Amino acid sequence: MSGYFSEARSAETVIDRIGAGADPRLRRIMTSLITHLHGFIKDVALTEKEWEQAIGFLTETGRMCSGTRQEFILLSDVLGASMLVDAINHRWPAPATESTVFGPFHVDGAPVRQMGESISLDGKGEPCLFRGRVLDTDGNPVAGASVDVWSDNADGFYDVQQPDIQPPFNNRGVFVTGEDGRYAFRGVKPVSYPIPSDGPVGRMLAALGRHPWRPAHMHFLIGAPGFERLITHIFVAGDSYLDSDAVFGVKDRLIVDFKPADNPTDGWLAEYDFVLVRRTQ
Ligand code: BEZ
Ligand code: FE
Repeated sequence: MSGYFSEARSAETVIDRIGAGADPRLRRIMTSLITHLHGFIKDVALTEKEWEQAIGFLTETGRMCSGTRQEFILLSDVLGASMLVDAINHRWPAPATESTVFGPFHVDGAPVRQMGESISLDGKGEPCLFRGRVLDTDGNPVAGASVDVWSDNADGFYDVQQPDIQPPFNNRGVFVTGEDGRYAFRGVKPVSYPIPSDGPVGRMLAALGRHPWRPAHMHFLIGAPGFERLITHIFVAGDSYLDSDAVFGVKDRLIVDFKPADNPTDGWLAEYDFVLVRRTQ
């Protein structure tokens, strides 16, 4: 069989060039990628103009990336690829809290705050008390769990999106559980917001007749010695975007009824227990 390129054997010809010394995992990934890429191009009979548009789109996506903007991750998010990778890598037993998309707005080094302290520094929004427990899959409290939380403000922006308007670490904080596994903090009831849509990904969504909105949520990154790290959100029940999250992050068990708090000065109450999976290796 000749090694020259032909339409009929296009993928095989490219795959055959992979050297014998290539890393086996890389070989597997690239073989599958080339097979699917060629299959896709054949399936839609891609025109040269469409190929140029695709290259232009990817070039622009790369140019849009900076220290504070990751347009490629956004592309992965809106195509459901981030959630699929998350699902495949977190096949946890049923009692465990489900993970969801990380998103681009986490900031390392948020202040460690006292239990019950407020994370809202701009004084905007409807007050809300968040509380619950961090448990293992047998229902025992997990002590020493770090509960790192972040959310948008009442105007629908994260502090890092408005560095000249919001105080640093607005609506962020880290809380460490004691022996009872409990966490509690004050913040504001999150509001729905659009993902950044002023770049190529936003234009792609518009061309596909899709909106860029995410339903209101509070982010949680929970870590404890001996347990798998949990990256998740809780979503506000009743939000109009629960069924059409731009990044497909919603799961039934992560939707929480925000109720009026017993103490009216607390405003709303969101109660949620997180269940961590013990690390096996
Ligand atoms: C977020 O929830 O912060 C987010 C997730 C994915 C893309 C954009 C934002
Ligand atoms: Fe978010």
